Order: sequence, then structure tokens, then C-alpha cells
Amino acid sequence: MTKDVNSLIEQINALDYFHSIDFGDWRTKSWVYPGNVPQNTHLFSVFKLLQEIDVKNQYCLDMGTYDGLTAFILAELGAKVVATCQYDRKQFRYAHEYLCHRDQKFSSIRYIPGFHIEEVQNYNFDSKFDLIILSAALHHMLSPLVTLTTFRKLLKEGGLLILEVAFADGDQPTFSLNTEVEDPVEGIPTIFIPTRSAVEGSLKFCSFEILGAAELDQLGKENINNYKRIAFVAKAVKPSSVSNRRPQLVTTHEKSPYFSHINFRELENNDEEVSNISYSGEKYTLIDIGDFETKLPLQPNINKTS
Ligand SMILES: C[S@@+](CC[C@H](N)C(=O)[O-])C[C@H]1O[C@@H](n2cnc3c(N)ncnc32)[C@H](O)[C@@H]1O
Repeated sequence: MTKDVNSLIEQINALDYFHSIDFGDWRTKSWVYPGNVPQNTHLFSVFKLLQEIDVKNQYCLDMGTYDGLTAFILAELGAKVVATCQYDRKQFRYAHEYLCHRDQKFSSIRYIPGFHIEEVQNYNFDSKFDLIILSAALHHMLSPLVTLTTFRKLLKEGGLLILEVAFADGDQPTFSLNTEVEDPVEGIPTIFIPTRSAVEGSLKFCSFEILGAAELDQLGKENINNYKRIAFVAKAVKPSSVSNRRPQLVTTHEKSPYFSHINFRELENNDEEVSNISYSGEKYTLIDIGDFETKLPLQPNINKTS
């Protein structure tokens, strides 16, 4: 450790955070969640799914960690964590250092700043992952399907993906180009916005079995225009184990299985390491932000003042 704890606290307090991170008797100041309102509500659906997964000793990737809240929660719960971000955030580094002062288990977090999924092949990981979490980030990516196939490759068979997304209304399984629609999501860059069935279909396409979903009531209207938010938990399975595959998907997996970075026939025939991670929660929950409470660590209790 290079800094004493008091100067670290001063440095953390001087910064604006995206995440509100609760350290017990004080918390980071979030520009998104000021004052005494429910904090980190955009992560409630992730929390709802994550709290039904025992991550102790599991190898987990928090891709797009930003200020690090989800990565820190995973480490506190005993996971071995890799946390990536496109940027190198002081907010992450100082909070991480502070947590390491309090408990050595946080020092096992591997932080990879300057990380872009498009360059994932340049990085080595210790093994395939048991759990990958991507939240509030798929809409920033140039190719959602390349992202999801990459996750399928990075996960052990049986491993879990928690995918939190903004989605548009509509019955068709479509991705809209956000820069061309009349009512775009305002955050930048927001490139593609899927409907809910497009996310579900994409997960099936990428050889995932959806186990559960948690949807946020309200947040869409309040925070990001008319778009809603949902998180899925999905298990990496063999293509033939994906439920309710339409004939066109079966034919694609079987007869045209090769897409430069993923080969569905190889996935089908692989006898690779299998993860023992599991999800024990509900199939679907609609979360009322005003009512939601989680026992996950580092998440502020709304009754606490900042
Ligand atoms: C809005 S932040 C989300 C932070 C956090 N996951 C959460 O839900 O609170 C978006 C994150 O996605 C990451 N990201 C965006 N585009 C990416 C890309 N092409 N490859 C890897 N990460 C990306 C950013 O670096 C950032 O950490």
C-alpha cells in the first residue's frame, strides 16, 4: 500500500463516482444517485439474480466494471475476480486500494483497464470463467452477437452469464440502430437497442439456456427515455441442449456452425471443464425499485445519508 487510509478516503471523497459504494459508515458520492434516494437502481436486476448464485471460489469476470461495484461485491463474496474497463478509472483504483486496506481478499482482483472486447484475444486468463457479468454495456458495443459468442467461448460449460440490457418495446426479435430511431436512448455511445425477444433469441443463438430474468419496473421512464431494463441469467450449454430451438437455429448450429471466433460444432463435441456454479432463483421477477432490498455487500441502505 502506498497511501495511508486517511489520504485515500480524502481522495475518494474528492471524486464523483458513478456507483454509490457503501463502506459501512460512509459511501462514495455518486453523480447518478445523489442524496437519500435508492442507490444503484440500474443494478437491482443484477443484484436480484446474483444473490441466488453462490460465487465463493468461482472465477468471475465483471466486464465493463467502471467504478467497480459489482467486482467488489463478487470479491467480498469470495469469488476470484477479473474486472475490465475501457478506461483507467481513479474511482476504481482508489476504492480498490481502500478495500484492500480493509481486507486482503480484495487484492486478488485483477483490474484490466484499457480493455475492449474487440481485442479480447490479446488477453490471457487463468482459465475459462464460471460467471461473466455484463451490465449497462451491451448497447455500447458495435456487435452484440460477437460479444455474446465471445462470452460463450470464455465460459466453461455450465458457467453462467448475467446480462443486463436496455430493451425496446416490440414483438419482433429486432435490433434497432439507435442513431436512426426517432426516440433514441440518449446515453452515448448507444448503438443497437434490442427488443426483449431479440436478446432471448441472441442468447439461444450463442448457445445459452436462459434460467431466469429480473425486470425493472419504472427505471426506463425515469432515467433513460422510454427504454426498459432487464437482466437475464443464462447457462452456457451445448447447442443441442438449448430449449425450444426453432428449425432455422438447429440448422444453423448444425450445418453452418463456424463464425471465425466460434464453432458451434466444436462446442457440441467438446468435453471441456464443466463449472459447478448454479442459479437457484425465480424464472422471472418484476422489481419494484421502491421495495427492493438486497443483502449483497457494499450496496447502500437508502436510509443512510451520504
Ligand atoms: C455504463 S458503464 C457500466 C458499468 C457497470 N457495469 C454498471 O452496470 O454499473 C459501461 C461499461 O462498459 C464498458 N464498455 C463499453 N464498450 C465496451 C467495449 N467495446 N468493450 C469492453 N467494454 C466496454 C465501459 O468501459 C464501461 O466500463
